[in-house]
Amino acid sequence: MTTSLANSPNVLRSICELPTESALPRAARFLADLVKEPAFLGSQILPLLREARNAEGWYVARRYDAHDGAYSLQVFVWPPGTGTMIHDHSSWGAYACALGTVLEERYDRLDDGTIAEHARLRKAWQLLWSPEDGASTVLPGDGGIHRVGNPGTTPAVSVHIYGPRTEEVDGRDYDPSRDYVCDRTEG
Ligand SMILES: [Fe+2]
Repeated sequence: MTTSLANSPNVLRSICELPTESALPRAARFLADLVKEPAFLGSQILPLLREARNAEGWYVARRYDAHDGAYSLQVFVWPPGTGTMIHDHSSWGAYACALGTVLEERYDRLDDGTIAEHARLRKAWQLLWSPEDGASTVLPGDGGIHRVGNPGTTPAVSVHIYGPRTEEVDGRDYDPSRDYVCDRTEG
């Protein structure tokens, strides 16, 4: 399959209309192909390197949203030593590293969610992702509690696809040092 941003809207829409279990492997394949495409790397990824060197925190450098919220494709820049807090999303997600290496940490939720703003987590695993490693996927909500960052000494860039939201909120942020969870409303 030839992947390009030129035909991405139609491809992404067809992927994101599928049930989650069918959409995830296709989104992963889409991203794994995209991050190996020289035209995409040259036009969308490499130009980000200059600004990444001057940034202090991670940020979303490019974002392509379906007008009706069916999907969102986002390019994240990770300066050395940056990373998200532990969080989940109200949509499924898939992401692939396009440049450098990112570290993904995954967590299991141990409580049943019945106590407000309380969540007990246990770290499940962690993996380093480079462009040749393909894409990782997360389920919505408790099925995809994770943290992504760049523990290395050079900038990293990753490309993410999020499917349709299943809830009003964007997702949740977790602080396992005090068994805390709260809704995140800003996408
Ligand atoms: Fe995430």
